[in-house]
Order: sequence, then C-alpha cells, then structure tokens
Amino acid sequence: MKYYESHEDAYRKMKKNNIPSWGEFCEQSETFEDFYMKEYLVTALDRIKLVSNARVLDIGCGTGPVSCFLAQQGYRVDGFDISQTAVEMARTKAKDLGLDIHYSVDDICRISSTGSDIYDIVIDTHCMHCITYDQDRHAALANVFRLLKKGGYYIEETMSIKDPSLWTDEGRVDEQGIVWHEVKEDYPYETVRFENKHWICTRRVMHPTDLENELKQTGFILEHIEIHEDEDIEYMADFRAICRKPMFD
Ligand SMILES: C[S@@+](CC[C@H](N)C(=O)[O-])C[C@H]1O[C@@H](n2cnc3c(N)ncnc32)[C@H](O)[C@@H]1O
Repeated sequence: MKYYESHEDAYRKMKKNNIPSWGEFCEQSETFEDFYMKEYLVTALDRIKLVSNARVLDIGCGTGPVSCFLAQQGYRVDGFDISQTAVEMARTKAKDLGLDIHYSVDDICRISSTGSDIYDIVIDTHCMHCITYDQDRHAALANVFRLLKKGGYYIEETMSIKDPSLWTDEGRVDEQGIVWHEVKEDYPYETVRFENKHWICTRRVMHPTDLENELKQTGFILEHIEIHEDEDIEYMADFRAICRKPMFD
C-alpha cells in the first residue's frame, strides 16, 4: 500500500471513538463545522464570486467538513479520499445533514476518472502535503488541472516551511522537506530503508517559492498567493493559492 494510504488507520480510530473530523482528531478545530481551512475558504470564494450552483471537487475530503460547507452554500459537490473509512463516515454525515454530495474512494495521483473540463473549482483541503514525492505531486496536480474547466479555479492551502532544518516536530525532515518517521519492519504501508532502519514519509513541507513554481509548471495562472504564519509553530506557515486554468490552450 502506498505511503499516503496510512491515514486509513487514523480514520478507523476516529470512527471507533466517534470523532467526526480530521480537525477534531488533531485538535485543530472544536467542531465538524469549524474546520481548519474555513476562514481562508470563505475569503477565497468571495474573491472568485462563482455562480451558486458551480461544480466543486474536494480532494482528500476526509469525513467531508469542507464538502458539507460547500454543499450548504449551494454548490454541487463531489469529494473523494483515499481512505475507505473516511468516505463511509463522510457519506453518513452528509445523509444525516440531508446534503446531496457525491463521495468516492479515489487517489489524486492515479485518479480513476478519465474525464476533463468538469469542475468550476477544485479545492485542496490539506491533501497535497500528504503527497511527498515529486513524481506523485506532478501526477496529482496534472489530474487537478485536467479535471478543471477552462477558466476554472484551483484553491490550495498547504503547509510550507522556509527552512526545513528548523523542523522540531515529530519525525525528521530531509533537505527536500519530506518528513520521515521511523517504523517497524512489518509496517503495512510503503516504507524506505536508510541508516539500517525503516521509514515512512508522511508529509512534504516545501518552501513557498517551490510551491509557486510547481503550480506554474503545471500550467496554472497564479491569481492570488498569501502566506499565513502558523499560530502554534513559528517556523511553519500555510501557503494559500488561488490559481486559474487558462481559458485557452
Ligand atoms: C489532513 S487530512 C484532511 C482531511 C479533510 N480534507 C478535512 O479537512 O478534514 C488529508 C486527507 O487527504 C487524504 N489523502 C492523502 N493522500 C491522498 C490521495 N493520494 N488521494 C486522495 N486522498 C488522499 C487523506 O486520507 C486525508 O483524509
């Protein structure tokens, strides 16, 4: 199983302990409705000013806090996540709230949909920092680009760091900003062996300039970029981008 599938274990714990969302699991938010990205999302949607029934895709939707918020704003929402348990929880929550959201299990790096020009907005609700290797990130962003309509928007909020050597949180970071955690030899997800130990990569924390460059290289026009300093960890920041797929090839 790929390294980024390891969230499944956390969602099983959340389901067992009745924890409704990733934000609550990580103690970043107090309720399902009060998701981490809400403040930025509200201002980003205000900037874009789309028609109310626009088609929106939530990548790495988890249990669906962002999808539910968007559906409540009148958007037609699809969400997918690599975690089967997260998607089951998302479906139950949407049903309880009476919301019509189409959820599926899928992988942004190898998405099953072959369609293109489908969505008015694609939103990265903190999925992209789970994709660590360059080739996976290129595949994921190329899929986002393909799924967007011409002139459609990609809204991204993702972790960033100016200097990876400042990292003092769990695990360790290499010079590319890949966060590594030591695991046992029989760990069920894809691991890498170095220094005679087994490691799993869990995140990629990139320099804001490198994040901008990968969006430009994908073909996006960068309409708005902001760096929001992390309130808890001084050397971290949220990189926030509103990008547009060009209207013409
Ligand atoms: C930080 S959590 C955020 C979840 C949710 N967006 C929220 O705000 O509660 C990141 C999510 O990305 C999902 N994810 C990681 N890699 C993925 C991939 N390759 N394709 C789809 N989802 C992925 C994880 O399973 C996890 O649910």
